[in-house]
Amino acid sequence: MTTRLVIANWKMNGDLALIDATVEAYPQVSKVDVILVPPSLYVAALLAAANDRFQVGLQDIGRHDGGAHTGELAASMAAELGVAAVIVGHSERRADNSEDDAIVAAKAQRVLEAGLMPVICVGESIEERQAGQAEARVRAQVQAQAENLRSRLPVAIAYEPIWAIGTGVSASVVDAVAMHRAIRSALEQIAPDHADEMRILYGGSVNAENAAELFAHVEIEGVLVGGASLDTDQFAAIIRAAGAAQG
Ligand code: 13P
Repeated sequence: MTTRLVIANWKMNGDLALIDATVEAYPQVSKVDVILVPPSLYVAALLAAANDRFQVGLQDIGRHDGGAHTGELAASMAAELGVAAVIVGHSERRADNSEDDAIVAAKAQRVLEAGLMPVICVGESIEERQAGQAEARVRAQVQAQAENLRSRLPVAIAYEPIWAIGTGVSASVVDAVAMHRAIRSALEQIAPDHADEMRILYGGSVNAENAAELFAHVEIEGVLVGGASLDTDQFAAIIRAAGAAQG
């Protein structure tokens, strides 16, 4: 079975005290991959505290290699520091910063070039789901990454239905599993020889209560956790649930 991947996306939250508290509450679980993704300013502190128990990621990256782009970070800089992964195309960035699929693909490409793993977010709006277009929308977002997906480098896809993010309303497990299968079939069409190396994560109101139910399904190869990752006990419980599912 694929090793489950648990990613904490702190978004624009957290402080040095949360780093200490997270490390303090961090459970002894060996069979789960964990990546903590704080605001970029805290990456160095988190890397220093990691002690090989978890990896550290970024929430976004510049789409250029470097140069005159004030305020931007290059994937090569993240690699130099020891960052393992970069979230790209989160729906909050797509909405707040008008990032379209082409920008997301450019960012994922920079991440791959730097030897890091992109965590490419996809997901439909509530209007798209109500109109019966959820699967078509998500497949199109995956298809837009085809070139990156064919690279044979480590990639994760995070399915995050927009209406489930920060709302406390998770997708039903049935709907999540169905979408993960649709994404898996899209990946197999795009990259038949190595689609099975890519992990598909679910994100959207994952918490200590619903994690075990999600992990009970082999299609849910990991989770991308927002709000609950700021609660150190809940986050530890989610990691434990992933470990228990791993057996
Ligand atoms: P919540 O877990 O707060 O719903 O956020 C999900 C998310 O957007 C993770 O990237």
